[in-house]
Amino acid sequence: MDRSRKERMIQGARKMMRKYPLLKGPITFGLTLWLLVYYICDWFASNTKKLISLAVLLVFYTISCSFCAPIFQTDRVQEQQVFTEHLETEEITLAAVSETAVTEMTEKSPEAESAQPEEEIINPEAEDSEDINNYSSDEILADYAPEDLKLVEEEDEEISAEDWSLLLVNNRHPIPEDYEFTLGVIRGSLQCDERIIPPFLNMLQAAKKDGITLEVCSPYRTLDRQEYLFDRKIVRYMKRGMSYMDAYKLSARVVNVPGTSEHQIGLALDIYTDSYKSLDEGFGETAAGIWLRENCGEYGFILRYPKGKEYITGIEYEPWHFRYVGRTAAKEIMEQGLTLEEFLETLE
Ligand code: DAL
Ligand code: ZN
Repeated sequence: MDRSRKERMIQGARKMMRKYPLLKGPITFGLTLWLLVYYICDWFASNTKKLISLAVLLVFYTISCSFCAPIFQTDRVQEQQVFTEHLETEEITLAAVSETAVTEMTEKSPEAESAQPEEEIINPEAEDSEDINNYSSDEILADYAPEDLKLVEEEDEEISAEDWSLLLVNNRHPIPEDYEFTLGVIRGSLQCDERIIPPFLNMLQAAKKDGITLEVCSPYRTLDRQEYLFDRKIVRYMKRGMSYMDAYKLSARVVNVPGTSEHQIGLALDIYTDSYKSLDEGFGETAAGIWLRENCGEYGFILRYPKGKEYITGIEYEPWHFRYVGRTAAKEIMEQGLTLEEFLETLE
């Protein structure tokens, strides 16, 4: 660096300040800046090795940052974009399948969503029950002849983990590809595995005798229907600003991932009552919810997702979701407060 040049600059600045006292401030600022740059350059000129080390460090730091900066997470961004596009297409397809449901969904969602706190989990089964026909026990029982309604007093039998009624279906145990069963009609469009219709009718009748009117709102579901409910849940969460992965994880706590729902094998039924037509925790405190919990075992059904066992089932408490497992197993499960997962372990 040329030191006389530095001296000349300082002298020039002083002269300017004397000539134009009003410009003293800007001249001092400019000179300070210039001197700062001058000293930095001067230092680097005499410390070339340090300059090279600093440059290497900077390059290394920039490369390391590039691995964790979100702007470089192109896969994730692309995945999210692809999924969003898929959902847009999906909604159009769904509109063709269930125009009313989609219209209702679109009309209701702005207020419904703004009214819900971010963390609140809205169960899509509640929405499912709005989309399809519901029938009360009176309507259902009226379709059957008295001999069909005779209480089936099953003898307690030996049970095995291989029994069809004990098939474990959850997020770790998808429905086996070769699983087969025959659908029976409960009433209208409501269907389930035909083998569980007699005990179910018996349960409806027993509740009726005790003054409880039950309503079935969501029994058997196709894979398409489960996919629709699951995807719709994800869309709702993503519209609130959640990432795809967060929306997926939260959805999977209230609706089983398609291919892992007991509704798809016709062994699960969502039940509520005429005076409380909401599938939420409150149903568990109604007379119908309490009656079901206390008596379902007698008819071969269990409360599948009990409160406090979420760490086992992976699903939030669902006081409306009942699963057929057979009378012997159901009585033991309900009396001992077990989940199906825990009961099956006792059979091993
Ligand atoms: N809502 C229950 C967990 C299901 O989707 O099967
Ligand atoms: Zn259910």
